[in-house]
Amino acid sequence: MRLALIVAAAENDAIGRDGDLPWHLPGDLARFKAATLGHVVVMGSVTQRSIEARLRKPLPGRRTVVLSHGGYTSDSDLVTVVSDPEAALDRAVKISAELGTPVAYLAGGASVYTQLLHAVDDVLLTRVHAEIDGDAFMPAGWLDPFTLVREESHPADGDRPAYSFLDYRR
Ligand SMILES: NC(=O)c1ccc[n+]([C@@H]2O[C@H](COP(=O)([O-])OP(=O)(O)OC[C@H]3O[C@@H](n4cnc5c(N)ncnc54)[C@H](OP(=O)(O)O)[C@@H]3O)[C@@H](O)[C@H]2O)c1
Repeated sequence: MRLALIVAAAENDAIGRDGDLPWHLPGDLARFKAATLGHVVVMGSVTQRSIEARLRKPLPGRRTVVLSHGGYTSDSDLVTVVSDPEAALDRAVKISAELGTPVAYLAGGASVYTQLLHAVDDVLLTRVHAEIDGDAFMPAGWLDPFTLVREESHPADGDRPAYSFLDYRR
């Protein structure tokens, strides 16, 4: 199984504010959905709660592995809760094998990206071309081990900043 980190990050590597995304970019949400549908996504409980607050349910059409020390629980068949990062990888491998999918996605937030960066093979970055006031950031130098292999630019649209889809391989 390959592990792909999927994230939208501003030029200053801000990814979140007040437990949620600091922007509304439908193009980025569509990319996330297209990439992750039918796959396993791994995320921390803060990110999982923000998704459940928005959708009133876990991500449909995906299996979610949620990291929590115990404060987060779920009765959904689509959600597996684990209590350490290596257990998250183990479960992602097992569920991906059940699904017959060759890639699982690491979907944040900041603490989970940082703890599992060492296991990441590929990066799907949406670079938001703005400096954003945030309280959650990617770790310094996080892209250093990766090489850019694909780039697709999207212009600004009204209040929405320009952004680029950037694919990297380790
Ligand atoms: N721009 C993007 O693409 C993107 C993507 C994802 C998230 N985000 C943003 O990132 C922010 C959230 O990031 P965050 O770092 O605050 O939270 P997070 O990584 O989503 O979740 C943190 C929680 O995960 C659990 N956790 C983390 N490490 C653990 C470990 N080693 N063992 C067990 N449980 C562990 C803990 O849950 P418990 O407290 O339940 O123990 C911890 O409080 C939000 O603003 C969100 O919108 C942005």
